[in-house]
Amino acid sequence: MSGFVFTTTRQLISEPGSVSQLGELCLQLGMQTPVIITDPGIVKVGLLEQAERALKSSNLPVLAYADVQADPPESVVLAAVQYAIDQGADGIIGYGGGSAMDTAKLVALLACSGEQLSDIYGVDQVRGQRLPLIQVPTTAGTGSEVTPIAIVTTGASTKMGVVSGRLQPDVALLDAELTLGLPAGVTASTGVDAMVHAIEAYTSRHKKNPYSDMLAHQALRLLSTNIRQAVAEPGDLSARQNMLLGAMMAGQAFANAPVAAVHALAYPLGGQFHISHGLSNSLVLPEVMRFNISQTTELYAELAPSIMGNNVPFGSDTELASALIEYIAAMIAELGLPTRLRDVDIPESALNGLAEDAMGQQRLLINNPRDVEFEDALAIYKAAY
Ligand SMILES: [Fe+2]
Repeated sequence: MSGFVFTTTRQLISEPGSVSQLGELCLQLGMQTPVIITDPGIVKVGLLEQAERALKSSNLPVLAYADVQADPPESVVLAAVQYAIDQGADGIIGYGGGSAMDTAKLVALLACSGEQLSDIYGVDQVRGQRLPLIQVPTTAGTGSEVTPIAIVTTGASTKMGVVSGRLQPDVALLDAELTLGLPAGVTASTGVDAMVHAIEAYTSRHKKNPYSDMLAHQALRLLSTNIRQAVAEPGDLSARQNMLLGAMMAGQAFANAPVAAVHALAYPLGGQFHISHGLSNSLVLPEVMRFNISQTTELYAELAPSIMGNNVPFGSDTELASALIEYIAAMIAELGLPTRLRDVDIPESALNGLAEDAMGQQRLLINNPRDVEFEDALAIYKAAY
């Protein structure tokens, strides 16, 4: 067995209602002036109130930058950094989906180290230290609370990543009460994104290791047994907590064994057509799995029981791997998500441009178990059309 390194967020708290501990956690990390990074949707649905109450009960000020947009552009990140500096922040709380948490990571760093955002894109370019950082996800999907990655939109449709162990948060706090109001479509698509994280980590060409494998299996068990219930019964607290836990475990897996072609082909859908990250992944997942199967038969067969549970058939690895792909495709449809690119108003004439953009995602494509060339990407988009 080859050696490996596994890193994750230092403290994980998973309990309904645990957001009430937020003030205490801030104090434990030495924060006197924490700044919350969140988005307008969170404020609108009243979710910020729980955090406010928790901070007030610990006699901490309530300071929030609440203008994070989905797929945050550089200007939003820089405005949030300036807000934190102006408030004299000595700690940061990411509160929301992946966009809010990714922004929070960069604010915690840039408001402390004085580095320029443009200098830290890529892997291990960060030199300075960051402020203490607590992450509170309000969707069960991104796993950003346990990853050392922040994604920023840099141009009209291009995205860049900052990857550094310095971005790894201090605390991940999972409180399913914050996710009870999520619409079914968001629950479904973010849940599928989390499943993709686990599947891609398990089949990653690089850095796959016994810890990431264990987490991928357990994440998929939790996610696949709870996703239908969380979508059908949004108020099921137990299903919601299991989804958060599964998404976090999938995040831990892919933070250490990176994602690949599903994400590489999903990003252009978000960049060019503003399709949400979760749905973008869901739309290309079955076809990328079909493309990869020649290299991943055994691995897919190993994952089949964790995803299919009692529905797993008896048979050869090839039969199990094929059954798994069909099961996932059927599950996506059952969850009420669009299943084809044409369903989300993408014109067929756009597929070439999407494939060109996907080839720009070499950071991800190098992790794919099978090499992906332009013609392959185009064929996958066509098959998903
Ligand atoms: Fe993702």
